[in-house]
Amino acid sequence: MMKLDFSNMMESRIGERGISIGAIEYMEHRIKEIDRKLKGDRSEGRLQFMELPYKNVDEIISLANEEATKYENFVLIGIGGSSWGSIALHTALSHPYYNLLPASRRNGRPRFFVIDNCDPDETAGLFDIIDMKKTLVNVVSKSGTTPEPMANFVKCYEMMKRSVGKAYAEHFIITTDEGDGDGVLRRVAEREGIRCLEIPKRVGGRFSVFSPAGLFPAAVSGIDIKEVLNGARHMDEACKKPDIWHNPAYMFAVLEYLAIDKGYNISVLMPYSRKLRHFGNWYMQLWAESLGKEHDRDNNTVNAGSTPLKAIGAADQHSLLQLFNEGPFDKVITFIRVESYENDVSLPAVFRGWNELEYFGGHTLGELMKTEQFATELALTNHRRPNKTIVIPAINAFTVGALMYFFELVTTVMGELLNVNAFDQPGVEEGKRLTYALMGRRGFERERNAIRAKMFEEENKEEKEKSKSLIICFC
Ligand code: PA5
Repeated sequence: MMKLDFSNMMESRIGERGISIGAIEYMEHRIKEIDRKLKGDRSEGRLQFMELPYKNVDEIISLANEEATKYENFVLIGIGGSSWGSIALHTALSHPYYNLLPASRRNGRPRFFVIDNCDPDETAGLFDIIDMKKTLVNVVSKSGTTPEPMANFVKCYEMMKRSVGKAYAEHFIITTDEGDGDGVLRRVAEREGIRCLEIPKRVGGRFSVFSPAGLFPAAVSGIDIKEVLNGARHMDEACKKPDIWHNPAYMFAVLEYLAIDKGYNISVLMPYSRKLRHFGNWYMQLWAESLGKEHDRDNNTVNAGSTPLKAIGAADQHSLLQLFNEGPFDKVITFIRVESYENDVSLPAVFRGWNELEYFGGHTLGELMKTEQFATELALTNHRRPNKTIVIPAINAFTVGALMYFFELVTTVMGELLNVNAFDQPGVEEGKRLTYALMGRRGFERERNAIRAKMFEEENKEEKEKSKSLIICFC
């Protein structure tokens, strides 16, 4: 049984900085309106991400199983919404040292690598340790135009051709927008004879984890993707009630929304599990890109959003907790508490008579982890810091699928509460266009000239302000 405990968000626990029952009640009507709107949007096909858990994934599984036995390495090339979901699933649901296991303990499945940047050291480093002849590359890009994955793709394409010759196309699988079939990666796939998986047209990158973008890489590692979707479907059912007091996604969103109103503009997600560390990154991207918006839907300038931050218990108790407890009153902390870890490590009764060490005897690491989570919750509450806890029974395909769907829903509801479009990312697109211009892509000459003119203007300004240099050189 999963549950959301938000008692430590409330005035009754943390005083006037907390949220009152009245404030939540005040939101009931608004939430009912949002519920009606979202149900309408869904029935008219505008929320396609919500339908993904209901799709048949047999073909993805058989392709993944077939490919998995052929290769030593699986390399995912993608960025943002095209990589975080797969990384999160892999880290949460595979062995913590997956790539270091002997192949037999991976059931003969390939090692799992991701290139999700254009960092030359990282890409070159990967080429140092993999043999292209034994590698399957999955290029995931919905648009097919994102510079970082596309740069890595063209490099891999050239290396693969050199390494395996004519058979190079078999070493690639492209995952891209279903669109109208004319996206650049789709055209590449057709010309080169590369197999292609589709991301449904109206599903945005960061909401695509339950599409082939997230599911194919997971299935290659042997993750039970049907169970992931089963978890997502259960969460869908659990979040259908219009009543805020019986709908965890609505309650979560409303609490975050009311918290922003009280000046809490940092939303910390703190799972007590290393396995959920990339889940935390996935959440950060989902939250930040969906909600951080300059304009609302009525084109008012709102500069909306709260800043997501991942912290991992218990390790970050020794880096961030001091700030959480005593720093500015600007954070809401959400714990993810795991009731039962897949493994536990019993602690021996050694160093008898040594007070600092003997108390571990008879306990386990899992017990220590849970105790630390509870102790942190208590400490934060004592410091009057709003916090809430999502309790999950264990980390498995079902609960991870459920949690991902939960946060997708919460983000969608937050978009409604803030009256922003949670599904676009104009701020990211701008950066992409400037990169195209500076890298010399055809069609971006106007932007390139504008950048040059601006740089010239800046230089001139500095010229005039000679007495103050705005750049400090050191080392
Ligand atoms: O959520 C999003 O839409 C973005 O984060 C994209 O996933 C990211 O920019 C990568 O885009 P693409 O899949 O088109 O390469």
